[in-house]
Amino acid sequence: MRSVSEICPYMAYGGDYNPEQWSEEVWLEDARLMQQAGVNLVSVGIFSWSVIELNENQFDFSWLDRIMNILHDHGIGVSLATATASTPAWFVQKYPDSVAVDRQGVPYSFGSRQHYSPCSPEYIQGVKRIVRQLADRYKDHPALKMWHINNEYACHMAECYSAHTEKAFRVWLQETYGTIDKLNEKWGTAFWSQRYNDFEEITLPRHTPTFTNPGQTLDYKRFMNDRFLYLYKIEKDILREVTPDVPVFTNFMYQFKPLNYWQWAKELDVVTWDSYPDPLEGTPSVSHTMWHDLMRSLKQGQPFLLMEQCTGQVNWMDVNVIKPPGVMRLQSYAAIAHGADGIMFFQWRQSRAGAEKFHGAMLPLSGGEESRIFKEVTQLGQELKNLDPVVGARTKASVAIVFDWENWWAVEQEGKPHQHQRYIQQVMLYYQAFYQRHIAVDFVRAQDDLSPYQIVVAPQLYMLKEGEAQNLEQFVSQGGTLIVTFFSAIVDENDRFHLTGYGGPLRDVLGLWVEEFDPYPVGAKNRLHYEDKQAWCYTWSDVIHLDGAKTLAAFGENWYKGYPAVTLNTYGQGQALYIGTEPDPSYIDELVGTVLEEKEIRAPLDVPPNVEVQERHTASDRFIFVLNYHQEAVHIRIPEGQPYTDLITQKVVKDHFPLQGWDVAVLQQRK
Ligand code: GLA
Repeated sequence: MRSVSEICPYMAYGGDYNPEQWSEEVWLEDARLMQQAGVNLVSVGIFSWSVIELNENQFDFSWLDRIMNILHDHGIGVSLATATASTPAWFVQKYPDSVAVDRQGVPYSFGSRQHYSPCSPEYIQGVKRIVRQLADRYKDHPALKMWHINNEYACHMAECYSAHTEKAFRVWLQETYGTIDKLNEKWGTAFWSQRYNDFEEITLPRHTPTFTNPGQTLDYKRFMNDRFLYLYKIEKDILREVTPDVPVFTNFMYQFKPLNYWQWAKELDVVTWDSYPDPLEGTPSVSHTMWHDLMRSLKQGQPFLLMEQCTGQVNWMDVNVIKPPGVMRLQSYAAIAHGADGIMFFQWRQSRAGAEKFHGAMLPLSGGEESRIFKEVTQLGQELKNLDPVVGARTKASVAIVFDWENWWAVEQEGKPHQHQRYIQQVMLYYQAFYQRHIAVDFVRAQDDLSPYQIVVAPQLYMLKEGEAQNLEQFVSQGGTLIVTFFSAIVDENDRFHLTGYGGPLRDVLGLWVEEFDPYPVGAKNRLHYEDKQAWCYTWSDVIHLDGAKTLAAFGENWYKGYPAVTLNTYGQGQALYIGTEPDPSYIDELVGTVLEEKEIRAPLDVPPNVEVQERHTASDRFIFVLNYHQEAVHIRIPEGQPYTDLITQKVVKDHFPLQGWDVAVLQQRK
């Protein structure tokens, strides 16, 4: 298999292209304008099943043949989709059983998209047929660069409750547990008279009077994730067999809870994802920046492709605020700064009709090639040609944050001490503290190799799986600094308590144990007392007993006033901090600053506020990205005497240089 950077040794630039919505004259115009805009890659055929297989086994490839040829003649590569994201009308009519069913037992209707059930045997048969046809037909086509499998798996329909799904769930459980006794034990079915005699008695966690069994719900989430991944692998296997050298992937989504992307990433040749920051969050969108870092981490630092973003405004929010001039460009560079090797959009040409006709595009309906947006698209496309040296460059991070999908599923299940807790928010709080200080962050799982890092943060690691406590202990004993936050190490992989008490598995490394939790009512807060200072804390207090650790901050109010809130334990060569509440971000910032100082981890450059700095490295070069999120120009100082080339302007800069409002510099330094 050839890698994406071998196949595209340049910054990929382009978008989803849906030529079937237009006539052939428009195709030629599209190809001309794509060239003008610097487009070198387009995703074709994502929702094209109904125009490729007109009826069962009746294929029409004539339009796709012509479009592949036109694109190739214009020097544009194709990321060819397998067209399986939506079954056609004839398919649904012929196989009414192939649609998904919602939790109330209502089948989905045709007329939108993604209505198929991931467990429908007819869907799987149809997928195998069309994917093989596409692979056989285009395997030697010179425009074919990569395969785009399906599209945003589970985006609209992540849970199916059809009869086929129930059957498949039972098989999955049997394979997972072997015996019904084991399942009964792991799900704790002695509670509420839930004991099963046989796998055949088990139903999907459907319409129940109150809370479902947590073990069952968790396994249902695992099963649905596995089921979608199984569909992906069916397609991948066919494509690998016919085109062993062509990379395959599907596109991931933002803060998408139903799919465990750690598991998925192993099956992708390149991680790609779709980023649609809410303009109201402002620029930079730290939550999307965090997602870039997570996406880069999924394949241990291998660069990702930004597969979709919007040029102007989407059409699926309540109010679709537009991006002002310069914001799309800045967001694109932010993606590259955090590890992207390509910038793609949804979509090339704005649709004339259909549910997304008001969605922004590279080539807008109004104004066409004279529009502001097309001019910005063209400017970026031309600039990115100068960034080819960055392709393949890696991020070097000394800090990692633990992020675990199964923990996300478990900690947000019903029946918890605090129902308003959001795992992502807890992760973001700590991510933000490093981001503000321009410190690169990778994401990891608690079972991963932590030796490349000096600092590991595990926010709200409620589910601690077998072997993870030992891995974290090893990291600290060998000199690492670990930061663990409240409501961690509570349950095992089946959402059953660890019998060693709250936080029990980490008692040695943290030097404490937690006896009780005190979740705060909405709006309530407490105080942290530390040194001679005070800070607010929110959401939750742990009632902590020390067993070797020392107190860094104590609670200021309530009956546990004076009890430890933030602690530090020395363990082997390293240190473990525990934060038994949600401190104000200013406190987290101070704490993170102290830890970074101790470890001598510094930002690549000192820059004014509202300017971001990130670094990427190849064996021969260092690239420093400087992004100005101010409207005003700022002055950037670089280490004296060392000359850098700004890849965008191709000018040499030394000592200091001005950076205009909303502008960016990509400084190359030879090593
Ligand atoms: C998703 C889909 C695209 C399109 C865009 C619109 O990312 O993959 O097909 O619907 O959203 O923003």
